[in-house]
Amino acid sequence: MFKVLVHREKTRVIGKKIYYFKCLSSTQDFAKKIAEKEKEGTVVIADKQTKGRGRHNRMWFSPKGGVYLSIILKPDMPIQDVSKLTLLSCVAISNTIEKQANIKTSIKWPNDVLIKDKKIAGILTEGNIQNNKLNFTVVGIGINLNNKIKLKERILYPATSIREEINKEIEKEKFIENLLFDFDKMYTYFKKNNFSKVIKIWKNKTSTLGNYVTVLQGNKKITGLAIDIDEDGFLILKDKKSNIVKVITGDIV
Ligand code: BTN
Repeated sequence: MFKVLVHREKTRVIGKKIYYFKCLSSTQDFAKKIAEKEKEGTVVIADKQTKGRGRHNRMWFSPKGGVYLSIILKPDMPIQDVSKLTLLSCVAISNTIEKQANIKTSIKWPNDVLIKDKKIAGILTEGNIQNNKLNFTVVGIGINLNNKIKLKERILYPATSIREEINKEIEKEKFIENLLFDFDKMYTYFKKNNFSKVIKIWKNKTSTLGNYVTVLQGNKKITGLAIDIDEDGFLILKDKKSNIVKVITGDIV
């Protein structure tokens, strides 16, 4: 059913063990099932998914050609730090795409990587909490690499793929290898209390800061000028009355 690949000498923790599937319902669901018994850094990859999930239980179209993977992490950290993992994932994905495809990307808070304002990648970070402590976290990454974007996907939000943007295919295995390496680097900054380095790169890449934004949190809307993200990865807005508002989660519309 699956191959278990054990290699990756270049990384510290990420991808020492990789489960690879041709097809899976969702790498995220599989990773959550095995997370308890697996070591931190174990990765689950599928060539395609039949039930790929995005945030807010949206569907994540997962045809062949795209990158679909989930990374099991077990950092010793407070629950509210989970958003830092999303941030560092955005930076890693953006770095890999820029190096491998030689194209500029930007980051939209909290979890999107864009090319020319169109979504190229998304991150789903899910935590498992036991006795008020984070037991494990699974970071799910979906990247439109060589796949074609369907019309029904474009209706949800403007989306693109790397192949569409650069008019050529990227070698997927090499791309994933680089992604795991870049992820490992950012995760190491985080683990070694160097998260400010990640924030610095994030700020250089983001399209969110300096713009008036509306953040949707369920039915609640918060509007203001995005002025900063703090060291925890929370978005800082200045509203019409010049109040400073800290936004922990939500979607920018
Ligand atoms: C989003 O932007 O809403 C997040 C999309 C996350 C999709 C990835 S693909 C690999 C992993 N498996 C899933 O079912 N979802 C995530």
